[in-house]
Amino acid sequence: MTAFGSVFMPEMAISWFDGSNWSETEVVSSDSIQLHPGAHVLHYSSTCFEGLKAFRHKDGSIKIFRMDKNVERFAQSSQLLGLPEINKDVTAKMIRDIVARFTDEVPEAPGSMYIRPTHFGTEPAIGKAAVPSLTSCQYVLLSPVGDYFAGGDKALRLLIEDQNMRCPPHMGMVKSGGNYAAALQPIMHARAEVQADQVLFCPNGDVQETGAANFLLIDGNELITKALDASFLHGVTRDSILTIARDMGMDVQERELTVDELLERAKKPGCEAALSGTAAVLAPVGTLIHHGQEIDVGNGGIGETTVKLRTALNAIQWGEAEDTHGWLTSV
Ligand SMILES: Cc1ncc(COP(=O)(O)O)c(C=O)c1O
Repeated sequence: MTAFGSVFMPEMAISWFDGSNWSETEVVSSDSIQLHPGAHVLHYSSTCFEGLKAFRHKDGSIKIFRMDKNVERFAQSSQLLGLPEINKDVTAKMIRDIVARFTDEVPEAPGSMYIRPTHFGTEPAIGKAAVPSLTSCQYVLLSPVGDYFAGGDKALRLLIEDQNMRCPPHMGMVKSGGNYAAALQPIMHARAEVQADQVLFCPNGDVQETGAANFLLIDGNELITKALDASFLHGVTRDSILTIARDMGMDVQERELTVDELLERAKKPGCEAALSGTAAVLAPVGTLIHHGQEIDVGNGGIGETTVKLRTALNAIQWGEAEDTHGWLTSV
């Protein structure tokens, strides 16, 4: 099996901003792009991206999941990075059109076509460390992906980092490469030192998120997760799972969750924890590692409610349950 995101469709949609206008969208080879070595993005990380999926339904139709919400976040990231404003309708059309061009290549469920819109500053100006790029480029790249859980659905090990942050607190809600770069060292250390799968960033004891997913605690009928603020990414999957949980009658609490409360609740036999994100949807967390101590979450295995919520979300994505919230866009 190839690694997630390492196979690409041969063409992508692209548009360039010249300081005044966006060029007409073109479909070009996805092999390469040409950039000036002084391009703003290469020096000052003026870049953001999105990750969303298109699914093949049994009737052969192709549906994109929560495209509007992802385009909205893309526009917000662009704005917070001082990049030129994108036209959300144009980006949405770029996404729909490039997926339509490759409908035959959209894998059957549980596979999907992963969609990666990207926007970055292109201005050749290495003196602009504290000035935004006047020019930019956006493209939409496609990558067919298989079943995330093909290797087996195993409960993850998370290292609790209760001092340091994933990224500066005003940047967490921006889906930008620099945030991932900032989190890399702690994640590499956690893998090497305690064989953790991920780091759960909890600066000053405030449970935020991992390097690439949001964190949810499920204790009986309660679902607890951090309330939205600027310090972490506002996951589209998080929003979808919370909505489905509310539909199921669960008590959804968006509020501050401390490491102390998390560890206290984790000890209860029925407790569950999960990571939410586009790639895995909802991945079970079995173990928390805190100051050298390993704490099982509930029974340390795969939680029942986690699987129930993931199955419900997959059913909507795959066209097996009614799309009552209007989350699917036809291609
Ligand atoms: C840091 C971070 N948090 C949360 C998420 C989950 O976001 P989404 O559900 O929109 O994929 C991601 C994305 O993949 C992420 O990179």
